[in-house]
Order: sequence, then C-alpha cells, then structure tokens
Amino acid sequence: MRPDLLFRRVTVVDGTGAEPYVADVATRDERIVAIGDLTGYEAGRVIEGEGRCLMPGFIDVHTHDDTQVIRTPDMLAKLSQGVTTVIVGNCGISASPVTLPGTPPDPMNLLGPREAFVYPTFEAYVEAVEQARPSVNVAALIGHTALRANVMSSFDRPARDDEVQAMCLALQEALKAGAIGLSTGLAYTNAKQAPIEEVQPLVDIVGEHGALYTTHMRDEHDGLLTSLQESFSTARNAGADLVISHLKCAGAGNWGRAPLALAALEQAAQSQPCNCDCYPYAASSTTLDAWRVNEQMEIYITWSDPHPEMAKQTLKDIAAQWGVSQLEATARLRPAGAIYHMMEESDVRRILAHPLSMVGSDGLPSDPNPHPRLWGTFPRVLAHYCRDLKLFDLAEAVRKMTGLSAGRFRLQDRGVLREGAFADLTLVDMARIEDVATYSDPCRQAPGIDLVVVNGAVAYENGVVRERQGRLLKRQPAAVAL
Ligand code: ZN
Ligand code: CU
Repeated sequence: MRPDLLFRRVTVVDGTGAEPYVADVATRDERIVAIGDLTGYEAGRVIEGEGRCLMPGFIDVHTHDDTQVIRTPDMLAKLSQGVTTVIVGNCGISASPVTLPGTPPDPMNLLGPREAFVYPTFEAYVEAVEQARPSVNVAALIGHTALRANVMSSFDRPARDDEVQAMCLALQEALKAGAIGLSTGLAYTNAKQAPIEEVQPLVDIVGEHGALYTTHMRDEHDGLLTSLQESFSTARNAGADLVISHLKCAGAGNWGRAPLALAALEQAAQSQPCNCDCYPYAASSTTLDAWRVNEQMEIYITWSDPHPEMAKQTLKDIAAQWGVSQLEATARLRPAGAIYHMMEESDVRRILAHPLSMVGSDGLPSDPNPHPRLWGTFPRVLAHYCRDLKLFDLAEAVRKMTGLSAGRFRLQDRGVLREGAFADLTLVDMARIEDVATYSDPCRQAPGIDLVVVNGAVAYENGVVRERQGRLLKRQPAAVAL
C-alpha cells in the first residue's frame, strides 16, 4: 500500500486525552490508514516531524460561520488555527431554513445582510455549501430565532400554538435532511419572550431524532443558575443531549460564581448527557443592546450601521463626544456590534479547564473589527493556557478541541487520530505557536500551525490555503461513544 501522506516521527496527540507518543502516521484517500513504525513505506509525500505534534483537526463547536463558509470558502480565519470542522447555527440564529420578510432581526444580522439569507430549506443550504466546497467541514444546527422569524412578524410575545406547530414542522424537516440539532438564543430581545412552553415542543423533536440541543441561555448574569436549571430540565424532558453555549459568569455582580455553575453542570451530567462550550477570553462580543449596557464596564464598538465612523472607540468616549448618556449613544448607534469586557479571568480559567467544557470560538466573521477569538481561539488555548500557564496538559487541551467535541456532536470518525478515522489533521509546532490575535490587531494568523489536512488533502501550508475538501456533515443516527 502506498500512502498519500506520511508523517514521519511526529508526536501523536490523539484527541482522546491519552498520553502523547512518537510514531509515523500515514493517510490514503480521505482516511488515516496506518500509525506506528512505518519505516520502509513509500508515500506520495513525506513530512518529517522535526519535534512537532500531529493532532486531529480542531472542531470549532461554536461558530456563526453559516454564510461565511459559502461566501468565503477559503475560511482562512479558521483553517489558519488548525480548525477542520465548524459547527454553525449557534445562539438561535441560522442561515436556514429561512424566508425573511424584511431585514434580518437582531441578532440574525450577525450572519450577514438580508441578501445573505437565500436558503428557504435546509436542503438548499446543504446544496450551497457543497457547491462552495469550503476548506473546512460544516455541521449545522437550526436556530430557534430563525424559525421564529419565518412565522412571526413581531417577537415581543410568545409564539401562538399554530406558530409553534409551524416551527416544529420546519425543524423536523431540517433534522430529517441532516441538521444536527437546535440552538436557542433566549437572552436576545427577539427570543426572550419565548416561554418554556414554546421551546419545549421544539426540543422534544430534537430528542425524538436523537439530535442535540445547544442554548445561549436566558440569563448569564444574575439568573445564571436558574437558567442552567431551565436548560437541564428542557433537555432532560425531551431526552436530548445538551450543550450550554459559552458558559460564563457575566457582569461584575456574578464574578467568582464559576465553581457554582460548574458544580451544577457536573451534577446534571450524572443523569443526562450535557457539556458546555467556552472561548478563552474574558470579553464577550455580540450586537449592541440597551439591556447589556452598564457604565461600569468597558464596551468597545466594532460596527454601527448608522454611524460606521464611530467604530473602534469605546461607548464611553462616543457618549462623551456626543454629550449624551451611554444609553442614548447606544440608541443612536444601533444596529451595532460591540465587545464587552464583562468577565473575570479566574472564572474564564475555571470553566476552560473543566473536563466537561469544549472549546468554541463564537467568532463573528462578518464583523469588520472582530473580537480576537475569531482568529485566535485555538492557538490561544495551546500557546497561552496550555504551554505558558499550564492550565492543563497538552493531551487534555487537544481533547477539549477534538475528541470530546466529536463525541458530543456525533461526528463519526472525526476528532480522534486513529487508524480508520478521517484524515483531518493539524501539524503544530508547540515551540513556535503563539497567540498573536489581539483586541487592537485581531485578524492575525498564528505562527506554529504548520500544516492542516482536511479529508486527506493538504488544505493549508506555510500560511496559505491549498486544496478545499470540506464537506457538509449530516446528523448521524446513532450515538457516538464519548
Ligand atoms: Zn451566544
Ligand atoms: Cu454565539
């Protein structure tokens, strides 16, 4: 057998949390075909390890790349971090199935302008992704707010029974067509008025299909623990797997509560499948909304539709220039995007280090001045938190970005480096990798991600995108062992 790629003497970090070891790794077509001492093998191409680590390609479990994978299929922001699969459709917003009567309601505008929403069915979205053939694999959740936008013209009330039924039907069709689950964004103004009675029937359908429920919870501030319980019970009643999105302790009044939140998660995990995702930063980023504004916290404006010239300044400075309050400035700037410095570092570290947490960037690719998590999440975990701060060892860092994620999201034969698995691989130089994307200079490719393979093809090398071989990954019928 002649492999296509042969990695010689690499340190294998296999994604399961097992101790790294040195071996040769061979791929042929789209799979890993051999691991061990492969001396004597002739391959299409040999890549010498030179002290570097070979890992499963990273899975970005929390993205808003729905339309990005089609509009900019190179996906450099993700590929350059070693990411080989993105989960789209988080926080209640998805590109499909959507038929928008007008401008996209907040925060669907994070996915692009109205013209970006041209997928009335999940099949249409699948077709568009396959046609664009992005450099990374894509698995898609269906957003609750997107479903609301199809059937409701005002969002300041619960959906009526007939509207809930229409949403259920749309969700069911999408799941049958291969969507991997449902997401909610219950903290957002346009979904807040959805009571449990509206959400439960949808999550019930998720459970019936053996799919996944992810939630940007109703309250990440004072009501954090209550919101966790709401999420646990909704998923438990439905028999659905659960992922709490970007678990955090938001707002100064909540700092230091990570141990409480994690204890609640641990307890729930004893009786139902549940995890959380998180990004490795103490600032969040989303649309600008009045209820989020708090004069104690630094809020940095990244974009504004009516006042694009005010971007890249703090809300406080803008308010001072205009001689108005921050709330009045917020009203004038909206629709707008912002970065909120609202978490405490020790909470971020506790959540990131917890064995139930997976890494997801929550990067916002349409933002002209994005939060650095868009380009920096995975290198930051490896360089800053693992190598420099030793928050966890390398095997555990990689497990949180690969094996654990593939298990929870049911991505068959991905997220682990073993014979027979898909050849989604990232070659990392742990000595050179650096977290270079910053708040003031966010769009930077990390050094040290030397080569990325997607479905057996070299997708990225020496800082440049090569072959695009990403696929749309449809929902797997059976559970995958974690
Ligand atoms: Zn969110
Ligand atoms: Cu999000």
